[in-house]
Amino acid sequence: MSVAQEAKQHILQLIKTAVGKEYTPSMDDVMRPPKDDMGDIAFPCFDLARARKQSPQEIAIELSANMEVGGWIKQVKAQGPYVNFYYSPLFAQAVLQEISEKREKYGTSNVGAQKSIMVEYAQPNTHKAIHVGHVRNFLVGQALVQVLRAQRYHVIPVSYINDLGSHVAKVVWGIKKWHQKEEIIKEDRVAFLARVYAEVSQKIEADEGAKQEIAKIFQELESLKGPSVALWKKTRKWSVDYFKALFKELGLPIDAWYFESDLVVDTKNIVEDLIKKGIAIHSDGAWLVDLQSEKLGVNLLVRSDGTLLYNAKDLALAFRKEEEYHPMQSLYVIDARQSLAMQQLFSTLKRMGFEKELAHVSYEFVTTKEGAMASRTGNVILYEELRDRLTVMAKEETKKRHPDWEEKKLKKTARAIAFSAMRFSMLRQDLEKKIVFDFDEALAFEGCTGPYLLYTYARIQSLKKKAKTSKVSLSADHLNHPLEHALWMSLASYPEVLFAASQEHQVSFIAHYLFDLSQKFSAFYNELSVLQAPGGTREERLALAQATGQVLQNGLTLLGIETIPSM
Ligand code: ARG
Repeated sequence: MSVAQEAKQHILQLIKTAVGKEYTPSMDDVMRPPKDDMGDIAFPCFDLARARKQSPQEIAIELSANMEVGGWIKQVKAQGPYVNFYYSPLFAQAVLQEISEKREKYGTSNVGAQKSIMVEYAQPNTHKAIHVGHVRNFLVGQALVQVLRAQRYHVIPVSYINDLGSHVAKVVWGIKKWHQKEEIIKEDRVAFLARVYAEVSQKIEADEGAKQEIAKIFQELESLKGPSVALWKKTRKWSVDYFKALFKELGLPIDAWYFESDLVVDTKNIVEDLIKKGIAIHSDGAWLVDLQSEKLGVNLLVRSDGTLLYNAKDLALAFRKEEEYHPMQSLYVIDARQSLAMQQLFSTLKRMGFEKELAHVSYEFVTTKEGAMASRTGNVILYEELRDRLTVMAKEETKKRHPDWEEKKLKKTARAIAFSAMRFSMLRQDLEKKIVFDFDEALAFEGCTGPYLLYTYARIQSLKKKAKTSKVSLSADHLNHPLEHALWMSLASYPEVLFAASQEHQVSFIAHYLFDLSQKFSAFYNELSVLQAPGGTREERLALAQATGQVLQNGLTLLGIETIPSM
């Protein structure tokens, strides 16, 4: 248990004792007050007032008069309908102590130790390019895996590659039609596939003959028999090799890879079984599961030409995952546009007797200022463009600030800044909100950005260096200024933020927290001097700064952001 939680437990106990038997408050009743001048923890008396048919103000006065304080709690005060608790310097000291002892482990817990969770993310389609929309998926999935692991869940991160489907058939058809003889150099392979895809999409709009040929290739690929299979295999490998390199560059944790083309046989067996059991029914030549009673429409599994739908293969995938890893819970990090398909999948699995917990971690898409992106029209920011442009911009900025730095240091710093901008801009947004990506905004050194957080961290490192002492005090007797108080309260709350992020699958909680922490640090550091402060205060402020640096680093690491000593 963290110091903050322990303190809350203690407060809860004080309240329980004061209240007596008639009403049992819970941890949820012990909260951060709405305003800073209302103490550190508040107990609202409304529920109790209702039970006792008394005014909450009266109750607050009565309760606070009956409480013994001391230790971590300096004072208890009735303020309107609330009993407000004020922490003492001993509490701050305990928080600083906890951070300095646990270091990179500060904030973690063991709550997940008994549970295994599979996290499926990183599911691009082969024969297509990777754009910023995918990047959101990759980075959210990666951070989620790390956040869950920090609570000791046994996490199994997996990738699912869609290497079949009409887009693949289109590309294979397009190459055969127009590019059969071309020699494609290694570096251009993936871009070439994307170009062919866009080309085909544009050219066959009204061409029925072409559409039929593509449908035929689609069937061939599904059965993995026929003259197009060799070309499919070759180009599929181009994509998969590229994904592997890209995932490695981003450091994505992936324990297993699943491929749609591996699931065809299983899917056919499952569909047959569903038909036998009467779960799937025949309609206009197609096979589907009728989910209208659950307001989920129909889950189409097999087209009238016998080919399988994407959602059918997901049934086989779920069983494959179960067979190989039997996770207690399975998460699917997939964009919000597939919500219905996910609900249909879960519902169909339930009808089949699949018992494990399933959840869709849904996120909104990414757009540019110019509007929605679509690889079909070519209006996209590709991953490479994102990375390279951010890196060039970060390097220019760093060069301006440090004209004396040598090339190597410049490069390393620029790369860290660029990646922090990329990651933070994808992670700070709550999942249910879309992202309008903007290069300048992502890279700004002020505001809710990755570079701002790195900068705050670097400031703390340089302060530590200038202090020329490793002697920091873990007492907190002098840290009474409201700006100091706000800072140590924020440090104390980190474990709870991390826990909430892991339970609600919202890595943005951590991003918001880190931004808030950085602002609190900046306010403290700009207003109060650390190195010039009198003895005692100086050491305590240094300890406070050091603890802030540690927590910043812990949070950033979970988000996949690497810190740098100076910038
Ligand atoms: N490849 C799909 C896409 O890009 C996402 C796959 C999601 N995973 C799944 N099990 N259906 O839209």
